[in-house]
Amino acid sequence: MIKVAIMGFGTIGSGVAEVLDINKKSIAARVGDEVELKYVLDLRDFEGDPIQEKIVHDYKVIAEDPEVAIVVETMGGVEPAYTFVKTMLEAGKHVTTSNKALVAAKGAELIALAKEKNVNFMFEASVGGGIPIIRPLNSCLTADEIEEITGIVNGTTNYMMTEMTEKGADFNEVLKDAQAKGYAEKDPTADVEGYDACRKIAILTSLVCGQQVDFEDIHTEGITKITPTDIKYAQAMGRAIKLLATSKKGPKGYTAIVAPFLLPASHPLYAVNGVFNAIFVHGNVLGDAMFYGSGAGKLPTASAVVADVVEMAKNLDKNIPIEWSSKKLELVDYREWEN
Ligand code: HSE
Repeated sequence: MIKVAIMGFGTIGSGVAEVLDINKKSIAARVGDEVELKYVLDLRDFEGDPIQEKIVHDYKVIAEDPEVAIVVETMGGVEPAYTFVKTMLEAGKHVTTSNKALVAAKGAELIALAKEKNVNFMFEASVGGGIPIIRPLNSCLTADEIEEITGIVNGTTNYMMTEMTEKGADFNEVLKDAQAKGYAEKDPTADVEGYDACRKIAILTSLVCGQQVDFEDIHTEGITKITPTDIKYAQAMGRAIKLLATSKKGPKGYTAIVAPFLLPASHPLYAVNGVFNAIFVHGNVLGDAMFYGSGAGKLPTASAVVADVVEMAKNLDKNIPIEWSSKKLELVDYREWEN
């Protein structure tokens, strides 16, 4: 029996518990052992809910329990998630997280710590919700030099832009709707100002170049300045406005940007609507590939988290290397971008 703990019982954390329960049998068959939820760390109590018997309020209970092999972090934000995750890795536990803020800020350090402790730090759900992209970049696409990654990586804003375009809906109403559906961050500023997408493209670029890309270096604009008139003009031109996160490798090095773009109908990301995400990748030998699917929300994101749990449960005694050193990569300014 492999024991798991979840830190943070919000939308994604509760989704992880649900997936572990719904697919208990198929997961056990894949792993060759049962995977059981032992603890849930949360500040709140859930009286009347069966989850209450697993609730603990002190992360050290998890860190100090030798039975717990795998820890899921779904709290969000850098602190206290960073302190908790570091403590778990130091205690020899495998950790998976859906927390892009944590991965973008501390990914290189936590990957190195996991390697030192011969455990794993995985983060498939941190970019693209349920879409596989982290493991493909670290595995299936490693024969290539990746020359471009361009993605719609924020479900909330893509949902909002789609509703505003198709239904003429109001910005604030659609934002409320996205929050109610569990797509948006706790503070939706991160979604609408592009900060969430910025952290995600920083993570993807770091994986592609194997070095630390600081999200602060990425020019970032969100969708707050887009007006209904902009949308009408775009439609009249046969184009769609999409918040893109993109990084490219040019003759001078890598450059990255997050901003709304006017896409023609011929662009592969033009038809990506609603909460869906898509990540277009161009490799120098592969050519083009695109990863498309459910980019946010409870169960799709939990699906990616639990896939990491399964992967770690199958590799309890070894570290699967991830190429991402703490050496900082200097980005080329996007205004000097050369194709
Ligand atoms: N708020 C994020 C989004 C959640 O809307 O894409 C998934 O990372």
